[in-house]
Amino acid sequence: MAVVVSSNGSGPAFEAKMTVYVFVCVIIAAVGGLMFGYDIGISGGVTAMDDFLKKFFPSVWERKQHAHENNYCKYDNQFLQLFTSSLYLAALVASFLASAVCSKLGRKPTMQFASIFFLIGVGLTAGAVNIVMLIIGRILLGFGVGFGNQAVPLFLSEIAPAQLRGGLNIVFQLMVTIGILIANLVNYFTATVHPNGWRIALGGAGVPAVILLFGSLIICETPTSLIERNKHEEGKETLRKIRGVENINEEYETIVHACEIASQVKDPYRKLLKPASRPPFIIGMLLQLFQQFTGINAIMFYAPVLFQTVGFGNDAALLSAVITGTINVLSTFVGIYLVDRTGRRFLLLQSSVHMLICQLIIGIILAKDLGTTGSLGKAQALVVVIFVCVYVMGFAWSWGPLGWLIPSETFPLETRSAGFAVAVSCNMFFTFVIAQAFLSMLCGMRSGIFFFFSAWIIVMGLFAMFFIPETKGVAIDDMRERVWKPHWFWNRYMLAEDDHQDVEKRTE
Ligand code: BGC
Repeated sequence: MAVVVSSNGSGPAFEAKMTVYVFVCVIIAAVGGLMFGYDIGISGGVTAMDDFLKKFFPSVWERKQHAHENNYCKYDNQFLQLFTSSLYLAALVASFLASAVCSKLGRKPTMQFASIFFLIGVGLTAGAVNIVMLIIGRILLGFGVGFGNQAVPLFLSEIAPAQLRGGLNIVFQLMVTIGILIANLVNYFTATVHPNGWRIALGGAGVPAVILLFGSLIICETPTSLIERNKHEEGKETLRKIRGVENINEEYETIVHACEIASQVKDPYRKLLKPASRPPFIIGMLLQLFQQFTGINAIMFYAPVLFQTVGFGNDAALLSAVITGTINVLSTFVGIYLVDRTGRRFLLLQSSVHMLICQLIIGIILAKDLGTTGSLGKAQALVVVIFVCVYVMGFAWSWGPLGWLIPSETFPLETRSAGFAVAVSCNMFFTFVIAQAFLSMLCGMRSGIFFFFSAWIIVMGLFAMFFIPETKGVAIDDMRERVWKPHWFWNRYMLAEDDHQDVEKRTE
């Protein structure tokens, strides 16, 4: 299939085919997303297993036995939650280290490091005999997530032909959703395996890590990273191989030009603070805040409770995992299909309205009909469950994948790795904040929490409408000319910049 890449109709057209090799590289690299998703899904299940709690957190287990729970106030132990969140905190720090590795050694070795951290982390957590092993293991898993989430989206955005970049990048999010689904199923079945079910659950994370480790031996390095590190011939060869066409000169020249500018920037973090970096920097950070403040992780966490209310009884956890998890996976395909057709903005705007309606309906029904104790009527509960599912759909084709895609494609090369590291660490930070605060907020705000998230969705929808430009089809190294300069608001930072003032010559 020959795909001629045009940049919004106005930029240079780079010839490219969707080659089998690129497809294989995309699938293998995206396994990094499977590691992340599996971990998001597995922690909640494992920390709810009695065998696990008795072994590592006996006092938490003791207190849990006597906890008084109601519809809104679930057992909440900040210390136990901190154990889960330690992964996000470690990933937050690791992404900066990963960014340096990504620039100096390349995207591919960064992924290999990710899988090695992950494998050691899996060994330590699944084989833990004491809390120290468990926590060190968790921190190493966090390093794996930090390195993987840094390298994989960048890798995908750089090897994809511009016109298919969105869809190929979202394969990362697809793997995240598959990881969450598998982990939820593993949780459900291992919860009945005593006393070592938790070891099996944690050990399962080794599978994607091994696939990524061996898979990464056959994938290529991105042409951009090779050329950036002065491996021009190899970069050109790789570009020819992944594009599947002979005439790659124009794209090659664009990358070389981007690398020349990048090579003059000594400190990418300082450069990030300059006005010209502001558009992708601000958007990259806010997207993470918004992605987490859609309330997705909170809603997915609360879903089993809602399913129970509908009357699924003991099967609620399994059903909720299978139903919401499968909807999450399938709807991500919609994102893959649409992102390069309708564009990023359409998905963000459509889903803001869509998710807002869902949150409001859920909030209103709970506020009217669900007291502290007792349960919803069957009909109302069914409506709530349906809207939870519809809500998950909207997230899965918009703020979920685009939170990773947009920051990976909008920074110029000189700040791409550093800027994306800031975005990854912001994602980890806000995931941590929601994980740490959600149960207390639910207990304090009750159904009001859905109105809280609704308010955020309005803010993010407005932000998307006015400040997030369309990047569909624009070559990754051409954003400044095609996207930022013509933008009604962000252009002020571009016009004000004098490249020569900002560029710091290398001193070596
Ligand atoms: C988010 C996660 C979330 C997942 C749900 C990801 O993009 O970063 O926090 O759990 O999507 O599918």
